[in-house]
Amino acid sequence: MKILGIETSCDETAAAVVEDGHRMLSNVVATSMDLHKAYGGVVPEIAARSHLEVITPVIEEALKVSGCGWGDIDAIAVTYGPGLGGSLLIGTMTAKTLAIAKKKPLYAINHVEAHIYANFINETKLHNYKLPQTSPALPLLALIVSGGHSHLIYLKNHSDYEVIGRTYDDAVGEAFDKVAKILGLPYPGGPSIQEAAKDGNSRAIKLPKAKMAGKYDFSFSGLKTAVLRAAQDQAGKDFTFPSYELAELLTNAQKANLAASFQATALESLIDKLKTAIDDYSPLSVVIGGGVAANSALRQMVEEQIPTEVNYTDIKLCTDNAAMIAALAYFKQQNSEPTDPYTLEIDPNLSM
Ligand code: KG4
Ligand code: ZN
Repeated sequence: MKILGIETSCDETAAAVVEDGHRMLSNVVATSMDLHKAYGGVVPEIAARSHLEVITPVIEEALKVSGCGWGDIDAIAVTYGPGLGGSLLIGTMTAKTLAIAKKKPLYAINHVEAHIYANFINETKLHNYKLPQTSPALPLLALIVSGGHSHLIYLKNHSDYEVIGRTYDDAVGEAFDKVAKILGLPYPGGPSIQEAAKDGNSRAIKLPKAKMAGKYDFSFSGLKTAVLRAAQDQAGKDFTFPSYELAELLTNAQKANLAASFQATALESLIDKLKTAIDDYSPLSVVIGGGVAANSALRQMVEEQIPTEVNYTDIKLCTDNAAMIAALAYFKQQNSEPTDPYTLEIDPNLSM
């Protein structure tokens, strides 16, 4: 079964064709990230306008690369939440229109849940993808860490899962982005912090780890503030000094130490909770997903400290893409009815 996936929840306009939930025939991603760089974060109006401009060519390219015509496509899948309202509207309107015009069943997909399914893609003829050889065994534990989400999910069976941990405040990717801003490093913050941290000492600055009531829950807002205070301290300024002027006063060595100390503390919190959950749930496999799962230091820590078999997907499938949307839709259609394209609405605050 070949499913065309469409994803537009943030700043990536993506379309992909995936067969039987694991064979990736195409994966096209156009990002408006460069347009947002000047503002230090995603500007929703710019993202929506950019989706509108490129969605049709992106879908056409995904079909072309896959070698499929409309007659070969069995269903369409689209992200309907969570995400930016204007961005979600472009993807869902396009998918609804195509489903009606081409007479295809439509599946509405939860973006966060789909990040888990990026790890089920294990076959492709496309170049430059490093995929796992097998699908992860169930039950599995998933650590989904992105700019909008930090979730620990226990997936017993397809469509039977429990969110066992979540963030109380900032998502971990959001904390990377905000700390990068304090240090004057370019957006998106995750890759910039990872790069800066390579020249720093992760034990140079002692930063706090949040203690949460929920055994598997996260909090990153206090850590972000602690980095701000440490940066002020290093720059010889107090809290009244404008944070956006701090970076100019810091040396590269100070920035590297702050980046390395922040990264180590944030990732240790993730690993601590993941280890606790593995001890309690004894899953058969572990997957990591979401943009922060692209972080090489996180991958190294997982490899060294996690005893369970871990499926790592290619970094290009950790960040937002439509292959994961099409992969999840394959498992969804096995035990649920398609969505009515005339009534489907976006849900920007959709929870798991
Ligand atoms: O999954 P994603 O592409 O979009 C959301 O659903 O949010 O994740 C984007 C987030 C951003 O916060 C970005 O800074 C972070 O993932 N990110 C990273 C890395 N690459 C992207 N964080 C840490 N290390 C990285 N290498
Ligand atoms: Zn995402």
